[in-house]
Amino acid sequence: MTDKLILRALKGETLPTPPIWMMRQAGRYLPEYRATRAQAGDFLSLCYNSELAAEVTLQPIRRYGFDAAILFADILLICQALGADLWFETGEGPRLSTITSPADLAALKPATAIHDRLAPIYETVRLLARDLPRETTLIGFAGAPWTVATYMIAGRGTKDQGPAHALKAADRATFAALIDLITEATIDYLSEQVKAGAEVVKLFDSWAGSLKGEDFTDFAVKPTARIIAELKARHPGLPIIAFPREAGQGYIGFAKATGADCVAIDNSVSPAWAAAHVQVDGCVQGNLAPHHMVTGGEALVRETRAVVEAFRGGPHIFNLGHGITPDADPENVTLMIETVRASRP
Ligand code: CP3
Repeated sequence: MTDKLILRALKGETLPTPPIWMMRQAGRYLPEYRATRAQAGDFLSLCYNSELAAEVTLQPIRRYGFDAAILFADILLICQALGADLWFETGEGPRLSTITSPADLAALKPATAIHDRLAPIYETVRLLARDLPRETTLIGFAGAPWTVATYMIAGRGTKDQGPAHALKAADRATFAALIDLITEATIDYLSEQVKAGAEVVKLFDSWAGSLKGEDFTDFAVKPTARIIAELKARHPGLPIIAFPREAGQGYIGFAKATGADCVAIDNSVSPAWAAAHVQVDGCVQGNLAPHHMVTGGEALVRETRAVVEAFRGGPHIFNLGHGITPDADPENVTLMIETVRASRP
């Protein structure tokens, strides 16, 4: 029997106080992150520098004692490993070479060729498995195929994922082949993270909310289910968190349809709704609004307690509904954690 709280919640145990970690917990709101990032140079250099990536992963664990550490990397590294160009424009976000034709797709590498490029990420995981406190759970991650595809097709982040929807409409075969390629690469990528010491993996489907009806089934549910089935076949008992962000009604039954052990909830649904419709199937993670990490005060305490209370009847991992923003105050994170940990029934 494991004594790690996150693993217990993921196995379906209802705990008196939910374990807690935070999306983007290693990030620009922390002065120690900014210092290490400056030492590494740019963001991608930090991701590929195993020693420094492990260091920034550990920083929020040292400062706050979160129950989980999430590997420091990015969901877009796999695009580079598949042969796309990737860079980050300061103050703007990611840029990639675009995939819009069968020829662009054919120029990518096969899924089996990703590991040379991603070897430093596996090394980061090994360092973390060695250096984390024994009570802290190590989470590996990847982007879900649809979300990664939206960046590969558009060559950047988009508000409505228009270019990906356009390719899906104009050339469904090429679009589906890209989804399959990313799916296969993601299975191997996450499997290597697990072999290196990741105890849980999380799939970030940040743009799942723009898939509707059959598209949601075909490109959010099915690729996620395929990744989970294959990972669980290779690593029996591996707990998996899925985050189909802004899925709305799509959250209902998502754990059953995909085999995920836990569904992470964003801020577009209320904790009470998620408790009634999602937590009935198992563990949920979420969903305090990230702006409370900027604004703090009474509202932070009240809303943190409300999230804990709403999910008290079942397995729950406390988290934000999306990543903490760079303008957050580190003191507010302390207040959130103290409020959660003081919230015994
Ligand atoms: O959560 C963690 O602390 C682990 C590391 C992590 C990062 N990105 C580090 C990062 C994780 C899990 C991600 C996931 C990720 N990356 C997602 C899915 C989650 C989500 O936010 O919806 C997406 C869509 C990306 C792609 C990405 N990376 C974008 C669009 C950007 C630019 C926007 C921004 O916030 O600056 C990034 C950059 C990025 N990834 C940063 C960090 C800490 C900021 C980089 C910096 O230091 O300048």
